[in-house]
Amino acid sequence: VAVDPFDLVVFGGTGDLAHRKLFPALFRRDHDGQLTDPTRIVGVSRKEHTDESFRAEVKEALQTFVPADELDKPTVKRFLARIRYVTVEAAGDAGWADLKTLIADGLDRVRAFYLATSPDLFDAITHNLKTHDLITQKTRVVLEKPLGKDLASAQEINSAVGEVLDESQIYRIDHYLGKETVQNLLALRFANVLFEPVWDSAHVDHVQITVAEKIGVGSRGGYYDTSGALRDMVQNHILQLLCLVAMEPPGELDADSLRDEKLKVLRALKPIDDASVRSLTVRGQYRTGAIDGKSVPGYVEELGDGSQSQTETFVALKTEVQTWRWAGVPFYLRTGKRLPQQVSEIVIQFREVPRSIFGPAGGFLAPNRLVIRLQPDEGVKLYLMIKDPGPGGLRFREVPLNLSFADTFKVRNPDAYERLLMDVIRGSQALFMRRDEVEAAWKWADPILEAWSRLGHAPSTYTAGTWGPSSAVALIERDGRTWHEDP
Ligand code: BG6
Repeated sequence: VAVDPFDLVVFGGTGDLAHRKLFPALFRRDHDGQLTDPTRIVGVSRKEHTDESFRAEVKEALQTFVPADELDKPTVKRFLARIRYVTVEAAGDAGWADLKTLIADGLDRVRAFYLATSPDLFDAITHNLKTHDLITQKTRVVLEKPLGKDLASAQEINSAVGEVLDESQIYRIDHYLGKETVQNLLALRFANVLFEPVWDSAHVDHVQITVAEKIGVGSRGGYYDTSGALRDMVQNHILQLLCLVAMEPPGELDADSLRDEKLKVLRALKPIDDASVRSLTVRGQYRTGAIDGKSVPGYVEELGDGSQSQTETFVALKTEVQTWRWAGVPFYLRTGKRLPQQVSEIVIQFREVPRSIFGPAGGFLAPNRLVIRLQPDEGVKLYLMIKDPGPGGLRFREVPLNLSFADTFKVRNPDAYERLLMDVIRGSQALFMRRDEVEAAWKWADPILEAWSRLGHAPSTYTAGTWGPSSAVALIERDGRTWHEDP
């Protein structure tokens, strides 16, 4: 559905996120006819550019990040014609008047500002928006992650931004919520009657959430080394996934009903403290190894600054949601870079049947397992016990009911940013994080970070191309369970 014309101003317009994700996403929306004239997309940064030189840069980004068969000439031309550029000093005075003049005739349109910059600049930029009178009735401001590096810095940012903008104007992005399969979690749970009655501690043995990447930190070392996997992936993306798995059904699907339920989950997470941090968390850092048979450097070599960094590139941990529904059900979470496979999935492991009527001859009845594959090869598999065909008696085999989205729908899965950018323009906050959610997530993560640092809990090394340190395997095997691996 086409949206009304809007002005979107991208701070950090020459940066990596804009190139890799934002411009390609906007291009695709334009390609599908969702952008209408005279929509403008304004790149902003400190760098000097003319409209023309910036358009050339955007064109190159499209050529790099959008497959060639989607880059039809007329759409590229139409899209580039929407692009403007203004040089602005985010924390200074230069350029703001030019920006104001450029979009002055768009007062009746949605005016969105996307802050794809370091969070250090969120305060200055939003205050400058106000000082330079750029905020209109229809202004929305998108804050890219990371939102701070701990609770205190997140509160500081939220308060500073809150001096200028109402919560209803603030869109804190977590791009995992824009992923097609993540939204499908809502469909799976609440558009079907089958799962909800067994979605509790009486039927679920444990839950696993894995977000594994093959890539290393590459050129992002500067940012990543101040962050680490807990801040970069767990505090936001993985906790959001956990919330969607564990939350109660919201009364409605409006933004606040949904976010109220997620918030309750975050607040119910069992705290990890100095006493439990060693038994409940594993930190890892990759060293030289091989991915797909190609040798890759270790994390410290990749940083290349000669430091003996103690930043974790892998985390595994065990937590619990302390509610009636989930009491006693462990949630095992893990994420890391330079793992053997790129895969994000959620595993709901059900309990064993209360008693086997088949006796020892029936063999082991593997408990049911629901695997929600978020990426790649998006789909849902429900592992069931089925009788092995043939006359040889009752022998059982675990077989998945397999729903592959690619086979079923035969359409391209839109990138998360396509959905989320259009939600900003339409004014839908449901898939964005509210202030209290972000802060509740930090409140849980902070004590882990503090305990690691207080106890000098250095990351264990793991060879690139393996599933993290052996202690990550031990974390779950100690409980008589194993990480899910697709047979
Ligand atoms: C980002 C992290 O938020 O998510 C990156 O900063 C990570 O380190 C990325 O690589 C993963 O996103 P996706 O969509 O590729 O799973």
